[in-house]
Amino acid sequence: MPRFDHHVFVCTNERAAEDPKGSCARKGSGALQQHLKERCHQLGLKGRVRINNAGCLDACALGPSVVVYGAADPPEGVWYTLRTIEEVDRVIDQHLVGGRVVEELRQPRPA
Ligand code: FES
Repeated sequence: MPRFDHHVFVCTNERAAEDPKGSCARKGSGALQQHLKERCHQLGLKGRVRINNAGCLDACALGPSVVVYGAADPPEGVWYTLRTIEEVDRVIDQHLVGGRVVEELRQPRPA
């Protein structure tokens, strides 16, 4: 039995501004993760949803990268690009609470 309904990893890796790979932290992932944690706490999801920061998830060009793992999710997880607070809220409401993947925010599968 899984420990959490959903386990969410947010890439907060930061590279130098001049690094051509870019990084999720430079695209605002820290603030998005903070909002994710606070809103999940407000919704009483503590203990059911776990939010962790992560190092580089090797999807830098598609970031800010977030991956959600859950018992009802595909084994490889559900990978999202979340750029705004509104997009984070959509994932919380629809996926973490409602159990439905937000297809429009999914990252494309790597080739
Ligand atoms: S820096 Fe976030 S996926 Fe690589």
